[in-house]
Amino acid sequence: MRFVFFGAPGAGKGTMAAEASKEFGLPHISSGELFRAAIRECSPLGLQVKELIGRGSLVPDDLTIKIVHERLASPDAANGWLLDGFPRTIPQARSLSEIDPEDYVIDLEVSDEKVIERLSGRRMCGKCGRSYHVTLKPPKVANICDYCGVPLYIREDDNVESIRRRIETYRVQTAPLVDFYRSRATLVPIDGEGDATSVWHELRILMARLMGLQLVD
Ligand code: AP5
Ligand code: MG
Repeated sequence: MRFVFFGAPGAGKGTMAAEASKEFGLPHISSGELFRAAIRECSPLGLQVKELIGRGSLVPDDLTIKIVHERLASPDAANGWLLDGFPRTIPQARSLSEIDPEDYVIDLEVSDEKVIERLSGRRMCGKCGRSYHVTLKPPKVANICDYCGVPLYIREDDNVESIRRRIETYRVQTAPLVDFYRSRATLVPIDGEGDATSVWHELRILMARLMGLQLVD
């Protein structure tokens, strides 16, 4: 089954896709993580996108479509995937529908206030990619990943100016995809405003139903 996790920055796409990947055994493919890995490796792509991402602008469609399509061609994505952060523009959505169409688009709906609260307190593990929050989802030991034991870092684009630009970019370039997916009858809205445990509780039941699976607990 092929799921797109859709929503504003900070809606919880990465957090929920990570839970769903564990639960349903589908690969979690985050376009943002693909770019951040390229930046860490200082690859030519990384050098090209570093500044754009830092200031909260979108990477051009041709580069984004190429890197995501390459990832979707990997053997582990042959029988389904969880796409997080892609598509974000109409050309990206069209490209996906041509090469590997989605079954469902999970639209995590959240207010701007929540987005700002969540992103300004987010902390990331550079090793496993898990995200934490200083108050909403703190690690067991302050600033250390529960799983890897390494210090957490703050994403370069999690500053007030970039957060504002990302919200604006979402409104102008990405929100129009809601109508695109509504017209394809694949859009499934879910209230993403609650805490991470309660949103995941709802989403787990919803995804199992969409996949025709019986949950054991
Ligand atoms: P990307 O990495 O996709 O960032 P984003 O869309 O800005 O979204 P975030 O990762 O910030 O939010 P999220 O929804 O994943 O929230 P999370 O689960 O972490 O993209 C980064 C950049 O790369 C873009 O700005 C662009 O430059 C470029 N890019 C990527 N894809 C692109 C594309 N397709 N086209 C062009 N450019 C592209 O949660 C946030 C925080 O809240 C965490 O601290 C988490 O612990 C906490 N949290 C999550 N859910 C809850 C909850 N329910 N309750 C309380 N806390 C919660
Ligand atoms: Mg994310």
